[in-house]
Amino acid sequence: MRPDNPFKPTFGVAPPVLVGRDEPLERLRVAMSVGPSHPDSTMLISSPRGLGKTVLLGAMHDIARENGWVVAHVTASPSATFAGLLTDKMIRARRVRRDKLSRRRVETASVGVLGFNVGVGLSDEQTSESLPRLEMFTAMEALAETAEASGSGVLVTIDEFHNANVDGAREFAHNLQELSKLESRPILFVAAGLPVMEDTVLADSGMTFFQRIARTPIGPLTELETRLAIAEPIRDVGVGIDPYALTEASEATSGYPFMVQLVGYHSWECAQDLANGIDYNDTRIGIDMANHSMELQVLRPVWRDLSDGDQEVLAAMSLLEGPEVRQRDIADMLGKKPNNINVYVSRLVDAGVLTRLPKGRTTFVHEAMRRWVRSHQQHLIRSPTLSEVSSKKLLREQITDAHHKHPNATHKAIADLVGAHPSYVGRVRREL
Ligand SMILES: Nc1ncnc2c1ncn2[C@@H]1O[C@H](COP(=O)(O)OP(=O)(O)OP(=O)(O)O)[C@@H](O)[C@H]1O
Ligand SMILES: [Mg+2]
Repeated sequence: MRPDNPFKPTFGVAPPVLVGRDEPLERLRVAMSVGPSHPDSTMLISSPRGLGKTVLLGAMHDIARENGWVVAHVTASPSATFAGLLTDKMIRARRVRRDKLSRRRVETASVGVLGFNVGVGLSDEQTSESLPRLEMFTAMEALAETAEASGSGVLVTIDEFHNANVDGAREFAHNLQELSKLESRPILFVAAGLPVMEDTVLADSGMTFFQRIARTPIGPLTELETRLAIAEPIRDVGVGIDPYALTEASEATSGYPFMVQLVGYHSWECAQDLANGIDYNDTRIGIDMANHSMELQVLRPVWRDLSDGDQEVLAAMSLLEGPEVRQRDIADMLGKKPNNINVYVSRLVDAGVLTRLPKGRTTFVHEAMRRWVRSHQQHLIRSPTLSEVSSKKLLREQITDAHHKHPNATHKAIADLVGAHPSYVGRVRREL
């Protein structure tokens, strides 16, 4: 019988093998053993879409539970009910722990040993709808006491934190600071969200506590991690993969975890007879199918949400030699001021499309996005000269060719020839 496809190209679903996330998981383990005074007892995981935040939070839940900790998790929402929802999750988490303790108490007949009936606790019948706002503090305190009574602590996690209702997040920050930092209650907190959270929920003046907590940026997987993430799940079920196919598959992902799952999934599906393993051809077709899914599920939706100006900057950027691009080159191409481009780049970093690099450089988060923009969106460049540029050949290459053919031509003449801005031609020629 054909084994089930092990890959999970679905957002929020744990991959068959989680690679490249040992460091944040180790930081959590250490914080759990040291307690709320440890700097990593509060962490913010930040990354663009599809890099594995939700899955990492899930792995953290597993570690906490394996160590007997109580987990309260919520996905943030901008609604005013967010604070109530979070409170509700904490009440439920406490109830589950109390039920477990009572069962154990009955089983071991050690009534009264675990003093979990805390004075400030809420009655189990109370729900978030009946809770006045002050009750978040009480619920958190009761949860911490119940966990402490069983010799453990609490891990509170919030996903999609960039989306959190600011009042609710502020209230939670205040309570967390009070209970974990001032009263040393064993409450650890991890939030995950898009980089834009720095400018939304964290930018609020009441959020100083969160602004200062440890950042855990998660990035693309390394080449070795990518190869492991593809090869191990295949080998674990006794199937083989050709070494060239593995290299091709891993390069096609640029280390983007969602793409890793897509490429693995489709290559597996393309293999006719798994007894012969996955070969180069299966992978080639698998990569095409993965690129198509990536376009539909990630690139197009992200693109649709961008402003016309942002789209034009990306279209220009995709013509420059990459992957790293200088912002002043983009400015030159579009005939704009570098400061102006900086504003666009900041917005595109927040949207999870670009990554900022040192020395005024930037790059696409997803290499697949650069390829897609380059081949589909060139018509967007409004600059009359640039819109002529062939999408097949990089502008820099065209300038280089023209320079070699006409070494004495002025920058302006070459600019007219290739359809670029003269200052950009000048810069490219100076570097030749
Ligand atoms: N470390 C990893 N190794 C291999 N695959 C991974 C890893 N992390 C995540 N994935 C896979 O990548 C995909 C995206 O993961 P996840 O949903 O956690 O991303 P996310 O950052 O939460 O995305 P979003 O911002 O859209 O919520 C899933 O298919 C998941 O199985
Ligand atoms: Mg997620």
